[in-house]
Amino acid sequence: MSLGLVGLGDVYKRQVASLFKSGSDSTTAAVRAARIWTGRDKIVRWGYNGWHDWACHRPAGIARSVREDTLTFRYNDLDSLEDVLERNKGRVACVIMMPLEIIPPQPGFLEGVKRLVHEHGAVFILDEMRSGFRMALGGAQEYYGVTPDLATFSKAMSNGYAISALVGRRDIMMGLLQSHTSSTFFTNSIAMAAAVANIERLKQGDVIPHMWRLGQGLLDGLSRLIEDSGVEAQAIGVAPMPYLIFTYDNQNWFGDTGQNGKPTLEKGSRSEVAWRTFYTETTRGGVLFHPNHHWFVSAAHTDADLERTLSVCADAFAAVRRAL
Ligand SMILES: Cc1ncc(COP(=O)(O)O)c(C=O)c1O
Repeated sequence: MSLGLVGLGDVYKRQVASLFKSGSDSTTAAVRAARIWTGRDKIVRWGYNGWHDWACHRPAGIARSVREDTLTFRYNDLDSLEDVLERNKGRVACVIMMPLEIIPPQPGFLEGVKRLVHEHGAVFILDEMRSGFRMALGGAQEYYGVTPDLATFSKAMSNGYAISALVGRRDIMMGLLQSHTSSTFFTNSIAMAAAVANIERLKQGDVIPHMWRLGQGLLDGLSRLIEDSGVEAQAIGVAPMPYLIFTYDNQNWFGDTGQNGKPTLEKGSRSEVAWRTFYTETTRGGVLFHPNHHWFVSAAHTDADLERTLSVCADAFAAVRRAL
């Protein structure tokens, strides 16, 4: 598939792209390409990479052999990655990971991952499904200055149309020709046209800075409200993908691998009451936040939306204080 067709040729200076329908299609093709290139079976993954067997974060219905070949590590912890690579020396085909989920990478972390992956002869894949065309036109890899061997994109690439892309090194990508990848609506040209139009619009240069500015306004505004209200919470994340956590009771909001997910808050604990009250009150106020997934700021959001959102949040924090 031509890179130029979706405008990816200008944005990502890679040699080859393959287009798919869903994000899981692209991440699965990336893993398969890495397995073909290395001749190895095991994969190391971090973050959410889709619902297919190798990526599914719940074990039910997944063959034991698949689970045994899928390993993980802790985010922002190079020692944990080194440990898993050393314990599986010569058997790991790739490390596939989101560049970040909520907590940003510590300086040198992504570079360190790339170095370790290459030292172990594996393929470094960044899953940019959320961060691509959002943190920067060239994704988090452009923002943080770390180029992977392969990368996957969707979501903001086509502004709601079903299309995803796997881009990357020609030598690795060409291995896919030994395999078979397809889907029923694979060649749907409407989604391709939407991606081209969307990327052209993004290239005008105003949309991504707008999302950063409004997202930063939300983070700063929430931080001010948290301080004023005395609620124990933290506005976190990068501006285009902000989020809020409640910090009562030393809750481990991000689980064992440091990954976003539904916080396993003990029912009735202060953080759980704060969390439930906040989302109930903001929904009542007409602002729908996702309670257990970071949020996305979009091009359609306005300064007036931000102002109204913060006003509803002020009332919700007051309700949290009353509930505790
Ligand atoms: C980072 C990331 N990778 C992969 C996927 C899987 O994409 P899809 O749901 O389109 O299969 C998602 C979907 O949310 C995602 O956020």
